[in-house]
Amino acid sequence: MKTHSLLRGLGFYVPERVVTNAELERLVDTSDEWITTRTGIKERRIAAPGQATSDLSLEASKKALAGAGMTPDDLTHLFICTLTPDAYCPPSACILEEKLGIRGRAAMDLNAACSGFVYGLDMARAVVCQNPEARVLVCACDVLTSRTNWADRRTCVLFGDGAGAVIVTSDREPKRPGDALIRDVRLSSDGSLGHLLTVKGGGSGTPMGLGDAVGDDFFIQMSGQEVFKHAVRNMVAICEDVLAANGLTGPDIDYFIPHQANWRIMEAVAKKLGLPVDKVCATVERYGNTSASSVGIGLAESFETGKIKVGDKVLLSAFGGGFTWAAALLEF
Ligand code: ACO
Repeated sequence: MKTHSLLRGLGFYVPERVVTNAELERLVDTSDEWITTRTGIKERRIAAPGQATSDLSLEASKKALAGAGMTPDDLTHLFICTLTPDAYCPPSACILEEKLGIRGRAAMDLNAACSGFVYGLDMARAVVCQNPEARVLVCACDVLTSRTNWADRRTCVLFGDGAGAVIVTSDREPKRPGDALIRDVRLSSDGSLGHLLTVKGGGSGTPMGLGDAVGDDFFIQMSGQEVFKHAVRNMVAICEDVLAANGLTGPDIDYFIPHQANWRIMEAVAKKLGLPVDKVCATVERYGNTSASSVGIGLAESFETGKIKVGDKVLLSAFGGGFTWAAALLEF
């Protein structure tokens, strides 16, 4: 008998500090009008000094555990999907394990850039298929503002910090109202386009020596228009793939949660899939682009606010540096 995977608990966390477009107008040569019309972003949340990926992850994970009716002791695996870990070493997942007060679990970080949450779901599915007793915490979290150049108006207006977490188990544990069956996941990537979105400085390919000044390449750099074009094309294609493989088309979907990079991208993808905009999750206005966590935050918040109901078919899709992209089909 094939083992299927369930999403059993959802949680998200965004830091308290709100940065509005008006505040950014005082920092760089930009305007609320430019940011709003080009991206749909009105404000974003910024981590407090010293608040790292494991701290945001802890808050989101506690909520996911509560939703699943579990305690940290119940977990067998912890994955943090991030491109902004607390440190290169130790992995943020090990720091989170310590903060949750547990030891002896499998714990590791995964980096698929902004596609991290959906990639993480598929990795958790693989674990659960091999070990139906597994209870896997998947937390996607980025503190991308730690790698944001606040003097670069092309990027600093786009990003915010946050975390979204879920618990994945096998369907040997009965599905409760509010749990979701992970019906299918598709992942893809194209490394030939990696140069279009980078955070290079300090990596082993661009090492820094003692006393070196931090340069532009330490921060996120992006060819916005190129990313835009590839994001729309690839998200549409991978969504169509996962829908067709399950005998569905766009209009069969009750709710769509795309990566929250830019409202224009989300709207274009939804239109090509035949989905009306009122079925599209939009947190981008309030949280900006929260990188790996954006789909996880959208999912947890949409469930909490009743936008997703029992029986709904929910489509997730992400796109990010690498390039990486992904889609998942859930049934609540
Ligand atoms: N305020 C005012 N003007 C600005 C700003 C700003 N914040 N940023 C750029 N401009 C200017 C540019 O300098 C340019 O001026 P010029 O014509 O005098 O040279 C003009 O606005 C147009 O710039 P473009 O880059 O062409 O603007 P575009 O319409 O493409 O919008 C944006 C830029 C919002 C970044 C868009 O390209 C985009 O959203 N791309 C996708 C980004 C994305 O999805 N990234 C995330 C995927 S991966 C991840 O999440 C990490």
